[in-house]
Amino acid sequence: MTVPAAVSTLERLRSLCPTVSVGTLTADLMHLGDELALLEEAGVGMVHVDVMDGCFCPALTVGPPYIKGLRTPLLKDVHLMVHEPLDRLGDYVAAGADIITVQVESAVHIHRVLQHLGSMEHVSGPGRGLVRGLALNPGTALEWLTGPLLDEIDLIVLLAVDPGWSGQALSPAIYSRVAKVKELIASSGREILVSVDGGVTRDNIAGLAASGADIVVTGSAVFDGKAAPANARLMLSPMQGAGAE
Ligand code: DX5
Ligand code: ZN
Repeated sequence: MTVPAAVSTLERLRSLCPTVSVGTLTADLMHLGDELALLEEAGVGMVHVDVMDGCFCPALTVGPPYIKGLRTPLLKDVHLMVHEPLDRLGDYVAAGADIITVQVESAVHIHRVLQHLGSMEHVSGPGRGLVRGLALNPGTALEWLTGPLLDEIDLIVLLAVDPGWSGQALSPAIYSRVAKVKELIASSGREILVSVDGGVTRDNIAGLAASGADIVVTGSAVFDGKAAPANARLMLSPMQGAGAE
């Protein structure tokens, strides 16, 4: 897929929504390239990379070389669950990230982190732009989203599990949190996308689609060791149905 330079990353992301972003934590790394190509054929447009540093959250996963090594036309949706990410942002941008999401809880000066991200260029050069996301843990107050941080973001990611592992149960509070965040965005007059991440299954994705989430991150429900492309189609269907309403 060749992307015209005139299309910004944010426009490209918006054109995909409502959609899913597929997390690779449970993927078979021996077959990841082939699986991503099949997911693209199935209509998936984004790959979600969970970066955990063993400090902000207990698990330790991958870093910039893994992201660079994903040679795929899918949008690279990089979720940084790392302590004080400011000085590391450049490495993730250089690795080819299209979307970079930072955790509101991860930095003392999160506003500075987001502003710094806003000053950076996509690895392909000026013009395309990076999408800036801000993630909130399930226990974090939504009041963070009533002030100046809204001026610095394109995407809000609501975690439905505490960060750390794939395959946890979705917090039932997520539905009301999505509704409240959508109200906050509407009253701000801004156009900000909303994503839900963690604990999504084929049994609850229709409810999340109905809640108005623009993006749903799905990891173990797609990479379950069986048929990832068929799973992805099952997860995409309710999202695309919600967009057609
Ligand atoms: C939370 C991560 C999620 C999660 C997704 O720790 O940010 O992306 O692992 O995996 P599933 O969909 O299996 O919960
Ligand atoms: Zn994630």
